[in-house]
Amino acid sequence: MASKDASDAARPLGPRAEHVAIIMDGNGRWATSRGWPRLVGHRRGAERVREIVQACPGLGIRWLTIYAFSTENWKRSTEEVIGLMTLFGRYIESEAERLSAQGVRLRFIGGRARLEPRLRELMAAIEARTAGNTLLNLTVAINYGGRDELARAAARLAGDVAAGRLALEDAGEAALAARLDTADLPDPDLVIRTSGETRTSNFLPWQAAYAEYEFTPTLWPDFTRDELAAIVARFTGRERRFGGAKA
Ligand code: IPE
Ligand code: IPE
Ligand code: MG
Repeated sequence: MASKDASDAARPLGPRAEHVAIIMDGNGRWATSRGWPRLVGHRRGAERVREIVQACPGLGIRWLTIYAFSTENWKRSTEEVIGLMTLFGRYIESEAERLSAQGVRLRFIGGRARLEPRLRELMAAIEARTAGNTLLNLTVAINYGGRDELARAAARLAGDVAAGRLALEDAGEAALAARLDTADLPDPDLVIRTSGETRTSNFLPWQAAYAEYEFTPTLWPDFTRDELAAIVARFTGRERRFGGAKA
């Protein structure tokens, strides 16, 4: 491993993408274009997650947040929804050992009430098991929708005010952010969406207010660590202003 000084010297100037969020889209098209069921695409997509997770620490990424299932994805066929939920459970079971050994801390965001009790148990168990890990913070969004998350946070905020735990004048940005599912996460620096769609589909609307975006036509099952490395390298050339004037 390179010494700290050497790696600092090799690092280009400019912003670093420490928190990358990915809208993993295109699994269905990847499969149907080959005449295969959509679930085959989802399975291949899960394999890409494994490779991308492994690549993150070497690219300076400390936080990776991935969109696996949205609050709108319940509109899909029962077969696809059940297939995806089964896949999430299997992913957690098969990756628990590897993620723990790699030093990955796994968390989930999204509403849990609608998920099967068995899946919720698996999620809680792996969160507890990896809670002490610090190399990479992997957050998987399941039954996640930004509007749903904001509505839940607003309800908590209102409840705290009504119960006298929070003064109304303190009910500002920080108080709301502290009640989001992402309360323990920094805001994403870079949001990547695969599959060529140029929309955000209800992903992290609050947190990504100042994120940089990259849209790639690559379908998620074809997304590689090399493409991630190229996108992250491009990010360092961007100028982030956060509303300030050009230096
Ligand atoms: C993304 O791939 C995975 C999920 C939304 C669960 P899609 O299933 O949306 O794939 P396309 O967009 O139909 O190709
Ligand atoms: C966004 O993809 C959700 C996930 C990647 C989990 P979708 O395929 O559901 O988004 P739309 O329907 O194209 O906006
Ligand atoms: Mg899609």
